Amino acid sequence: MSLLQIENLRVTFATETGPVEAVRGVSFSLGRERLGIVGESGSGKTITGRSVLRLIRPPGRIEADRMEFDGIDLLKASEKQMRALRGPRLAMVMQDPKYSLNPVMRIGAQLTEGLLRRDRISRAEARKKAIAALEAVQIRDPERVMEAWPHELSGGMGQRVMIAMMLIPEPDLLIADEPTSALDVTVQAEVLSILDGLVKSRGMGLIFISHDLRLVARFCDRVLVMYRGKIVEELAAHELMAAKHPYTQGLLNCLPRIGGPRAPLPGLDRTGAWANV
Ligand SMILES: Nc1ncnc2c1ncn2[C@@H]1O[C@H](COP(=O)(O)OP(=O)(O)OP(=O)(O)O)[C@@H](O)[C@H]1O
Ligand SMILES: [Mg+2]
Repeated sequence: MSLLQIENLRVTFATETGPVEAVRGVSFSLGRERLGIVGESGSGKTITGRSVLRLIRPPGRIEADRMEFDGIDLLKASEKQMRALRGPRLAMVMQDPKYSLNPVMRIGAQLTEGLLRRDRISRAEARKKAIAALEAVQIRDPERVMEAWPHELSGGMGQRVMIAMMLIPEPDLLIADEPTSALDVTVQAEVLSILDGLVKSRGMGLIFISHDLRLVARFCDRVLVMYRGKIVEELAAHELMAAKHPYTQGLLNCLPRIGGPRAPLPGLDRTGAWANV
């Protein structure tokens, strides 16, 4: 059963120099699986993710032939309905936690806010859940972090706090935008195994946006490769490292190799025809 269905998604920003088409006809569906999205910087990965939550602010405009989440028409849903979906059912871990955490609220208050408002549980219970969520993302001193302000956290800790915050309400669909880019490998492995566990045990759907093709090949089930606002290739994750499409091959060729020749990285060959431009 598919959780999310998107057909012909287009996102345009009106700018002083004319419209910028950030996403140009993206279609895909997502089941209770791990779907990776890769592609060079500016290819439209984040904007695709934000569109699903309808978090595109004017002058940005979202259009699609269909955008449905678990039978709910996301294009027709009211702003009130969207607010009720965001968090408990649809969540996104943003690329930069600095912009997602409230700078004037202690971490503990941010983590328990939704629980207190939505689930009507006691303060003590909410606190317990928040601490458990911090422990789950490998924060060693959760009690201290609960009292901290966002600016007191390192980048990696901020990223983990964000992940904890998104996972507390147990969403059905999580969009994770470069969720582990600031983490060292051991913490990264832990975070991935938490996400993996949620997909397997609770049947959560996961959209995993990343620059790390090796990681996506290992971790995801399926991969979309984006270029200039379009999907140029869709393939099984285990096929990614042997992709045939010249753009995907270009991305693979840009991966540094340990022990490999130290020649300069090749430039990415960009052919407009891949994205019909
Ligand atoms: N508010 C905005 N106004 C105008 N253009 C925008 C706006 N937000 C994004 N864009 C453009 O949309 C395109 C896609 O951006 P997006 O953030 O989705 O890229 P990305 O694939 O996530 O890149 P990265 O890997 O660097 O995160 C870019 O060309 C970007 O400049
Ligand atoms: Mg991005």
